[in-house]
Order: sequence, then C-alpha cells, then structure tokens
Amino acid sequence: MDQLIEKLRQNGALERNEWITLLNRRSRIDTDELFALSREVRESVYGKDVYMRGLIEFTNYCKNDCYYCGIRRGNNKAERYRLTEDNILDCCLTGYGLGFRTFVLQGGEDPYFTDGRLERIVRAIKKSLPDCAVTLSVGERSGNSYERLFNAGAERYLLRNETANGAHYKMLHPPVLSLENRMRCLRDLKEIGYQVGCGFMVGSPGQTPECLADDLMFIQAFKPQMVGIGPFIPHRDTAFAPKPQGSLGLTLFLLAIIRLLLPNLLLPATTALGTIHPKGRELGILAGANVVMPNLSPSGVRGKYLLYDGKICTGDEAAECRFCMQRRIERIGYKLAVSRGDCVGFYRKDLI
Ligand code: 5AD
Ligand code: FES
Repeated sequence: MDQLIEKLRQNGALERNEWITLLNRRSRIDTDELFALSREVRESVYGKDVYMRGLIEFTNYCKNDCYYCGIRRGNNKAERYRLTEDNILDCCLTGYGLGFRTFVLQGGEDPYFTDGRLERIVRAIKKSLPDCAVTLSVGERSGNSYERLFNAGAERYLLRNETANGAHYKMLHPPVLSLENRMRCLRDLKEIGYQVGCGFMVGSPGQTPECLADDLMFIQAFKPQMVGIGPFIPHRDTAFAPKPQGSLGLTLFLLAIIRLLLPNLLLPATTALGTIHPKGRELGILAGANVVMPNLSPSGVRGKYLLYDGKICTGDEAAECRFCMQRRIERIGYKLAVSRGDCVGFYRKDLI
C-alpha cells in the first residue's frame, strides 16, 4: 500500500504537501486495494448498513447567484416553486411509511422561509414523527437563526463549504458571498450542537490539487459529522455550461481517503455521482460511502430542482426511488437500514 495512505490510516492526518503529493500520485495508486481498505474501515464502524435520508427539495427560489448552480437567481429559465407546510409534512409522512427516519429539508436561500416559518415546519415534523431526525440544508443564516432552528428540533445541518481555498471560492461565487462567512456559519452550527455536514464539488472549475488539499486540511481540522461530495456537473443556463464535469475516478478516490481520514463520518453516495455513471452510487458505497439520499419531493416539482443537467430520479415517485435504492444496495451486499443513522460517537464526544 502507498506510504501516504498507510500514514493517513495510522495518524488520521496528513500535512498539506502530503495531501498534494497523494492527489498527484492518484493514477499510480491501486484503487482496488484502497477501496478494500476504506470499506474495511467503514464496516468496522457501520457494518453493512447504509443509511437513507429522505430528501425534500422544498423551494427552488434562491437569492444567490453562484456561478455553478442551475437555480441561481439569475437563471430566469428556472421555473420556481415552493412547497407549503402541508406539502412538506405529507412528504415526511409518506417517507415514514417507506422506512425513512431522517428528512433533509433542502432549498435555495429563499427569504420567504423566515425563521418563524421554518421553525413551524420543523416543529410540526418533530411533533408528528418524534422518532425522526430533521436535517436542514438552507444555506447561510445568522447564528441566532441557526439557534432558533436547533431549538425547534432540527439536529443536523448540511452546508457545503464548496471549497476551502479563498481564491477558488471567488471563482465560484459572486463577490457578495465570502468564504469567511461560510466558515463562520459552519463554526456557529457546530458550536450550537448540530451534527454538521460540509463538503464540495469534485472537479469544479478552477479546482486544483492544492484546492483539494485545502479542503482535506479543513475537514481534518473541522471534524464534521458528514461530508457531502459529488462531481461538478455543468448546467446549460450557467456561465459554467462549457466546463467539463468532474471525474468519477477522482470522486471515488476522495470518498475513500476521506473515509480513512474520519472513520466515523456519514458519507453520502450522492445523486450527482449517480448522474455521471449508472452505477455511481453503488461505486460510491464500495469506495467507503455509507449514506444515500433518495428523493422524497413530490414528483410534480422534481424536474424543477435542477442544480445541474441530467439529474436522475426526476420522473420517479418516492416509493420507486426507495425500492430502487434498496435493490441497488442489496445487489452489492449491503443493507438499507431503517434508522435515524446518527454519526457514531456524536452523542459521546470522547469517541470522536
Ligand atoms: N454540479 C454539481 N453539484 C452542484 N451543486 C450545485 N450546483 C452543482 C452542479 N452544477 C451542489 C453544491 C451545493 C449542493 C446542494 O449541490 O455543492 O452545495
Ligand atoms: Fe430514484 Fe433509482 S433511486 S429511480
């Protein structure tokens, strides 16, 4: 096995220059051996269980204009929608019947969803389904807002940092958005007591091995409970339309080394990974991922939450995705778990 991978496995950390070396050496690394190792580490913590999260894309209005994203404000071809509180609760109830015990409420940064409105939604879900976890993924907000939502019952929050490199962040975002504020949000979330997910796109325009080394250094220092990574996929109505998509091989490699870096991590095999390859999500699990996020959004709106072109599952019903996912996971020897799927060690800080 590669010396740096051995070192990573033993120390749970590398220096920045070592990360760069490891990334540059990727083509010479035996990935079968690497993935066997990352699976072993994953299975020592989570066994063969794969956790599922029901993703509810509840609004595609967004006040931001991120250059990579299909629902950015400036895309006037995007057909906008918002789900009502009742719609959202219905999605959760349907999901509960299908075995989901975590709901991820994801949306653009939509000012309609004030703290008060979101609090009501979170409270309503927790009241009807007290044995379920609610994850929010609604972008940058104030520390006070995060605190209110936590007190309403949300216990997890996903906010990808997108990149941990300041210059790269500027290439991906308009000047009103800053890496400093993104990092402030992540710190606030952690301090409040959320299980926090960060993450980034693989192969986003301008990303270099140095940028990825910064991402890995950030993950190493921040110690999130979740890391969402998936390939960048161009969207036709964005400035990045002509850019190439991120590679399958690099995404799988990163999943594997991130698993070695933080063995307890919740690591999704993302929809974007399933979009660039018909077996992308299965390959992600075989590289060390342990979470899948089938879509629970009502089928009428799915085709409108298009962050990138070619997104899979836009024509399917909740139950179809749920059982399709189960078949896919069982075929590779894993098991879809009916459980909240908390991060191992989170409620016992000494274990992390
Ligand atoms: N390709 C892949 N992922 C994307 N995201 C946004 N746009 C794209 C794209 N074009 C990701 C971002 C965001 C998450 C919700 O989706 O990383 O944080
Ligand atoms: Fe959606 Fe397979 S997971 S159709």
